Amino acid sequence: MRTEPSELLLIHAAELATCAPEGVPPGPRRGTDLGRVGIIPDGAIACAHGRIVDIGPTREVLSREPRGCPEIIDASGKTVLPGFVDAHTHLVFAGTRHEEHIMRIQGAKYLDILSAGGGIISTVEATRKASFEDLQATATKRLDTVLLHGTTTLEAKSGYGLDLTSELKQLEVLRAASCKHPVEVVSTLLAAHAVPPEFEGDVEGYLDFIIREVLPAVASRRLAEFCDVFCEEGVFSTQQAERLLLAAQRLGLRSKLHADEINPIGGAELAASLGAVSADHLAAASRTGMDRLAEAGVVAVLLPATMFTLMSDRYADARGMIDRGVAVALATDFNPGTSPVPSMQFVLTLACLEMKMTPAEAVSAATVNAAWAIGRGDRAGSLSPGRPADFIVVDVPALDALPFQIGVNCVTDVVKGGRVVVKDGRRVGSAPSGDRAF
Ligand code: NIG
Ligand code: FE
Repeated sequence: MRTEPSELLLIHAAELATCAPEGVPPGPRRGTDLGRVGIIPDGAIACAHGRIVDIGPTREVLSREPRGCPEIIDASGKTVLPGFVDAHTHLVFAGTRHEEHIMRIQGAKYLDILSAGGGIISTVEATRKASFEDLQATATKRLDTVLLHGTTTLEAKSGYGLDLTSELKQLEVLRAASCKHPVEVVSTLLAAHAVPPEFEGDVEGYLDFIIREVLPAVASRRLAEFCDVFCEEGVFSTQQAERLLLAAQRLGLRSKLHADEINPIGGAELAASLGAVSADHLAAASRTGMDRLAEAGVVAVLLPATMFTLMSDRYADARGMIDRGVAVALATDFNPGTSPVPSMQFVLTLACLEMKMTPAEAVSAATVNAAWAIGRGDRAGSLSPGRPADFIVVDVPALDALPFQIGVNCVTDVVKGGRVVVKDGRRVGSAPSGDRAF
């Protein structure tokens, strides 16, 4: 029995998935370990000072719990799991891209729209014009939305500024929005998202500019932990991506890549040779590329909502990657063009139905492995004593049922750092900035 009562107690979860099963070594889950989520039937979690102090079957946890806990969540009939970690988003942007979605329905291709000055560039124009305050307000609403859908930690990129002032503005907005919000935000510089109109036809000149001006400004202000690049045919080549990412590494920014999303140009191989933390997309990755990711321990962040939105029939080969020993993670890629999808629950659905992952594999990929993909494996994505109390309650009687509730939000409660921030589907604990963000 502990001497102090806990500050928050959750009891009677029909299933509690810890994503920290016994016998599985710490680190990104690979192979058959991905499907091991450590289910505790009739589970309970005790929290104090923002952390988990006890976890296990309800009867056992209650037997160790002194009387007097002030707040109890009864999760009878529901399932509890770690808060989702969304490892890849483009959260800060202005404007919408509905015309482009309609163009794609009528047959236009994503890269053709981009090279004709639409796509990413149209969001750049809107984002450059937007004020800091407006961007902060929309970013905050979007953070509310993802939190209501169960995301408690999220990575977010710049990349809709593409000049010094506007890239810094996006990253400063992330910093300002996140310090007042329960969702923890991990920031990434993506100045190499597209070539802006001022540098049209001069990709190398634009890279020189990023390396000379943007990287040092971002590094000295500590505005980003990672540097990312859209490595794709007609955007940035593997040689250009390598030059940029090595320069960023010298300033302490770890590497991420948008790799082999549409064309297999060796992005996965490059991610492995650079020791990137993650390679993202990979819908077109080669088998050699997958093997290299496995050998190098690079986390593969798969983004099925992007393939869904692009109406692609080619999703990343999740099964092939899992069989080869690649650590697979999942994320939304939330952005106005290729994935206007803030919900990790919908990503789980697509991971199961389109990429043939099991529900348990998808949950590990969306929690523990996603945390490793953004350098937060030591504190987010799994539940065990001593770790931050970040967990969600979903209104399904078993974890396996979660991906098959499609188009509804199953999250009823969210606990972040031991604090209830969503209760019965509503934001609590601080002034909510609105129920809908879009
Ligand atoms: O991850 N592929 C490049 N970047 C984003 C799309 C951003 C956009 O189209 O605005 C992605 O899919
Ligand atoms: Fe992306």
